[in-house]
Amino acid sequence: MLLGSQDFLASLPSQGDLVEIKVGPWRMHVVCHPDLAHHVLTADRIFDKGGPMFNRTRKLIGDGLASCLHDQHRRQRRLVQPAFHRTRMPRYARAMTEHIAAVTGSWRDGQLMDLGPEMTKISTGVLAKTIFTADFCGPAIAAVPAYSEMIQRGLTRRLLTPAMLQRLPTRGKRRFERVTRELESAVSAMAERYRHDGVDRGDLMSILLASRDEDGSGLTDAEIYAEIVTMILAGTETVAYTLSHAFRLLQQHPEIEARLHTEVDEVLGGRPASWDDLPSLDLAGRVFKETLRLAPSDWIVTRVVTEDTELAGCALPAGSIVAFCGLVIHQRADLYPQPASFLPDRWLDQQLKPPSGAFIPFGEGGRKCIGDVFGTVEGILALSTIAARWRFERTEPGRTRSALRIPGFTKSAVTRVVARHGSHAPPN
Ligand code: HEM
Repeated sequence: MLLGSQDFLASLPSQGDLVEIKVGPWRMHVVCHPDLAHHVLTADRIFDKGGPMFNRTRKLIGDGLASCLHDQHRRQRRLVQPAFHRTRMPRYARAMTEHIAAVTGSWRDGQLMDLGPEMTKISTGVLAKTIFTADFCGPAIAAVPAYSEMIQRGLTRRLLTPAMLQRLPTRGKRRFERVTRELESAVSAMAERYRHDGVDRGDLMSILLASRDEDGSGLTDAEIYAEIVTMILAGTETVAYTLSHAFRLLQQHPEIEARLHTEVDEVLGGRPASWDDLPSLDLAGRVFKETLRLAPSDWIVTRVVTEDTELAGCALPAGSIVAFCGLVIHQRADLYPQPASFLPDRWLDQQLKPPSGAFIPFGEGGRKCIGDVFGTVEGILALSTIAARWRFERTEPGRTRSALRIPGFTKSAVTRVVARHGSHAPPN
């Protein structure tokens, strides 16, 4: 029987705690046990960022927080962290609520849409509106989704192009370079105006500009650009991928979908979800969490061994590639009974406290996702606001197409949007 890549990954733990696999020309060791995942993710000096795909991405987008190496990481994390402090979230959530309501309010009963790109429209708009809030940023906000798509496409194409063809001056390559240059100069111009105004707008841009090193220096324009591109790349497809999967899982589990509808009807009564609703949106939170378990957006993440070391009794010389993968660990039956089933209520069970390294959709250790709370808040607000007014119905087979996206392979599917309360949906 031929296994799909997800089935193949899920089958690895049966072969051991550390399994060597070959991906194209590369060999890598995949960690299949939570203790090993925890060790690799927390010993981030020895297991530094790296690996073939990672190195290509880094070459293209520079040294932002997600791609810089260990020696630069601590400084960058300290400078960027204030932008993701919990106290900032209610403000970001307001922008999320507004944008999610605007996108979903434009849908029409019976409309056919491709779920993946529609969720991306939500996540790129949310990010643009939390990074920049100054009036003069309007054109930049409007341009972010197109920039984001072009950068993602350009990156995907480059990642998949054999090394020897990478230097060819193709049209796509020239466009990618033009788009990144335009974005860089737009960010630089906005940074200049923010500095000139000196107003703390409470948005990501203001916080990045205000961050100071121990010696009093701040981030340069080039560093601010690298951080913003990093946020766009790390914080849009991940959320869109998770939301698309959540709705696909709800389609496959009508009984859970019905319970979610009851919850959002009681809590929201048809209006968009906001920050204050979050504590009451229990099931929506569990649906999002269970989706992250079953369909973690970062399928496989690599590290490079920086000095000779040993892992699970296996000698790993410097330069070896080690990979961790939520799909592998989240499918272990000893950690998650009925691991392949979509069971949001498993997270109700107070006994289910996965040990370190066992629930890693956001990674773990020093390189853990800085946007985990941001992404979760956005995901729950979008899931609930949509469920309050809309359902997605599958269309006939054959209308599905695959789109290759970073960081995972997002299968986008044409879906029919159906108004839950008739075509005259409750007002926003
Ligand atoms: C459902 C949503 C999300 C998922 C599943 C996710 C997943 C991840 C994972 C697995 C990592 C660790 C990668 C590694 O260890 O190599 C990561 C890192 C990162 N994520 Fe997210 N992410 C999400 C949302 C976001 C959002 C919304 C943002 C920003 C607005 C963001 C920004 C970042 C950054 C900057 C890093 C690098 C952190 C560091 O190295 O210090 N992510 N993310």
